[in-house]
Amino acid sequence: MTDIFDFSPKIDDYAVMGNPIGHSKSPAIHAQFAEQTKQVINYTAIHVDIGGFEQAVGNFIASKGKGLNITVPFKQEAWNLADECSERAERAGAVNTLIVKDKKIIGDNTDGVGLVRDLTDNKKLALKNTRILLMGAGGAARGVLLPLLNQQPAQLTIVNRTAEKAKDLADSFADQGKTLGCGYDVLGSESFDLIINATAASLQGELPPLPEGIIASGGACYDMMYGSEPTTFMRWCEQQGADKVFDGLGMLVEQAAESFYLWRDVRPQTVEVIDVLRRKASE
Ligand code: ATR
Repeated sequence: MTDIFDFSPKIDDYAVMGNPIGHSKSPAIHAQFAEQTKQVINYTAIHVDIGGFEQAVGNFIASKGKGLNITVPFKQEAWNLADECSERAERAGAVNTLIVKDKKIIGDNTDGVGLVRDLTDNKKLALKNTRILLMGAGGAARGVLLPLLNQQPAQLTIVNRTAEKAKDLADSFADQGKTLGCGYDVLGSESFDLIINATAASLQGELPPLPEGIIASGGACYDMMYGSEPTTFMRWCEQQGADKVFDGLGMLVEQAAESFYLWRDVRPQTVEVIDVLRRKASE
């Protein structure tokens, strides 16, 4: 029976929406952030049918939900749906965080800042004046371009199986830094200080055709994917002699931390949460 004299504060609801969503680590990550920062929130994972995204967001807001994380394949739809977007979400053309505020839906994209924080704060890589190779020209690559270019690399080359897409993407971010787009066949003599895999190739256990010697001496390699085992790209980088090879687990936690900060105005600590997830993944 409902107690009409129940004055206990309503717990704020948050969720991640995607398809598939069963293996999402976001509920576990946000539960740890909430515990650590003493924020009382409820965070769930919601499976959304293709074609049902707008309705699902509408239902969530109608039930007084405060914020959402959006994952594959709805980030572009979320961008379309938002009443207003941050500059980084606007440039990405994709939204991974929705904030419900003053009857408006605000869209943001924390993927790029999540990647950059993992690279600079956790992995201690300096990006200024470096040569970066970004593999892929889909949504994942587009989402991280602006924050990467804000680090002022000497050059950012985008390489893609479909070269035209890489060239178009490089052109559309040329106002933000020195960008170049090309196909894999053009890569050759040049080596890079940082190679980031933003392709979907790791999902299929495939390796984009990178030439030998592409990793500069002391260079680092980063796969935006993560799993219990190193990806095909990570294994190849190790075989090539790269001593710094990372997966995307840190990025996952950092993008979540930025979303949490946008919703709650409190910045959670991430290192411990990354460690917990890493330990669980290897169990
Ligand atoms: P996402 O949102 O994950 O970026 P996407 O927009 O479908 O997904 O983009 C997938 C990216 O991975 C594309 O850059 C794709 O290359 P194409 O544009 O040529 O399709 C790239 N990709 C997927 N599988 C690949 C493979 N086996 N080798 C190289 N690139 C691959």
